[in-house]
Amino acid sequence: MDATGLTAQEKITLFSAWGLIRKDLDVHGRNMLLLLFHKHPHYISYFDFTDDATAHSLVDNKSLYSQSIHIIKTFGSLIEYGLKDPALFNETLKKITRIHAERNVYAKDILTIGDVLLNYLAQVLGRQVSDSLPDAFRKLFVTIAGRFPVGPAPPKTEADEQGSVK
Ligand code: HEM
Repeated sequence: MDATGLTAQEKITLFSAWGLIRKDLDVHGRNMLLLLFHKHPHYISYFDFTDDATAHSLVDNKSLYSQSIHIIKTFGSLIEYGLKDPALFNETLKKITRIHAERNVYAKDILTIGDVLLNYLAQVLGRQVSDSLPDAFRKLFVTIAGRFPVGPAPPKTEADEQGSVK
């Protein structure tokens, strides 16, 4: 297994799905970020979209649009170039991890965004999505998440305090 953690067949599955959305990547990238904010509104506060001072909503915010293009293109480069070249995949992942250092983005956040993206793909691609896409996609996100910090432990519950066994 190489740095991608994927089999040759899984790589083909991801590459083909990506081919279906890459033509309108800007639109899909923005939709994916908007869907993330719709499902998990607390992530909005991680970002700063105030560069666009004239926007009336997130939907017409050009700063959000611009940042979503960077994000989706970087993610896409993992698939388009990284799957063919694991050393390049590794370097791209290092850069992605570095961009997010100090921003409180943890492994669980990566898995969350992975779920949202997979949901989105299933919606827009419908029956064009192959049965093997969900597993391959989740594996890719597990690999990415593995490079991110685990994050702080959740606050202790009363049961933890009392040392009860579950
Ligand atoms: C595979 C997943 C991800 C990729 C490929 C990715 C990629 C990127 C890229 C390329 C940028 C720089 C954007 C720019 O320069 O305009 C960025 C910024 C950022 N990302 Fe991610 N990201 C991912 C996941 C996440 C997640 C899960 C979060 C947590 C909510 C997150 C939060 C942020 C924040 C807060 C910024 C900073 C925006 C700024 O103020 O410049 N990212 N990301």
